[in-house]
Amino acid sequence: MKKIVISTGGGDAPGLNAVIYSVVHSCYKRGWEVFGSRNGYGGFLDVDDLVRLYPRDVEGIYNLGGTILGSTNKGNPFSRPVTNLAGEVQVLDISDKILKNFQRMGFDCHIAIGGDGSLDIAHRFALKGMPVIGVPKTIDNDLEMTERTFGFDTAVSTATDALDKLHSTAKSHDRVMVVEVMGRDSGWIALYSGISGGADVILLPEIPFDIEAVCNKILDNDLRDKHYSIVVAAEGAVTCDGKGFNKGCGELGRAEMILGGVAEWVAGEIHSRTEKDTRSLVLGHLQRGGSPTTFDRLLALRFGAAAVRMVERKQFDHMVALRDSEMLAVPIAEAIKRRKKVDLESDKVITARDIGICLGDRLGEEEFELNADD
Ligand code: F6P
Repeated sequence: MKKIVISTGGGDAPGLNAVIYSVVHSCYKRGWEVFGSRNGYGGFLDVDDLVRLYPRDVEGIYNLGGTILGSTNKGNPFSRPVTNLAGEVQVLDISDKILKNFQRMGFDCHIAIGGDGSLDIAHRFALKGMPVIGVPKTIDNDLEMTERTFGFDTAVSTATDALDKLHSTAKSHDRVMVVEVMGRDSGWIALYSGISGGADVILLPEIPFDIEAVCNKILDNDLRDKHYSIVVAAEGAVTCDGKGFNKGCGELGRAEMILGGVAEWVAGEIHSRTEKDTRSLVLGHLQRGGSPTTFDRLLALRFGAAAVRMVERKQFDHMVALRDSEMLAVPIAEAIKRRKKVDLESDKVITARDIGICLGDRLGEEEFELNADD
């Protein structure tokens, strides 16, 4: 008999509910008790935010977006901003209190479902003695040690669908449409949706972009009688002069920085440099919503069940990972060491270049010049 607590932390991602469903059922089958902590670590601080979960509580949730437990990306217990009576913001470490409550409530393991930030917190708790198992979540797919995080496939489908819809309106007006997709540090969503959605230009955080190269591609399209273009930019894309795009940050600095603005800036530059009619749009949180795709559902269900098997094997401070179609346990410390970047030598990047997509650098420009006279 074991007593497990699950939490969902950081930005939500389609598939969170499927993991919860799978953990609850896998534990129930073993005769274990499962509790859910609301809003990240809320249930470790206030019993009202701790909910007992039975199979009937998770019935039919595996295909729902969001998380029945709620989530927060402002709840780091090691540095939590708290406003005191004088109205000043103080950053407090409440991790000892959480650990003590975890022990007092008699939990055997905490299954933390989250991205890099939440797994970093989970690892710090593991170092303090909390038995923790991680489940990798993020639409950005930027966690090391796992080939995929759940939520990514759904986000890519949403972005690809949006690109498909933009083609007809862009074509009707001979316009350039610049679409901003999520991807703080890595361009996975931009690359996958851009290739699948017929983009002319894809801007990734991994390749600082030259706006002149972007405009050259658009002018080259015009020369070839294609008078509209689609540009996909990851929110974390930066120019080759080091210009990044954000809307400021909260009390905790870079970790809380709200990215945004690259599409608007790129659209403005394209218009002033090429005189093309140009519009920009930001897909934003649409990419985090909706029902998980079959791929994400299955992955999330497998992650949840594998996490429970890891509890049985006492593989604490490890994260479940997808590698060569199998479920694997990897040290959380390895998964959070650095962000998983798009491999610029990978087949997807080569494919993008081969089919004439500009990646914001000057590679491939000679070929347009060679063929421009045809
Ligand atoms: O980590 C996933 C992500 O979707 C990032 O791409 C994005 O920058 C961030 O979350 C936005 O999160 P929020 O608006 O919830 O703070």
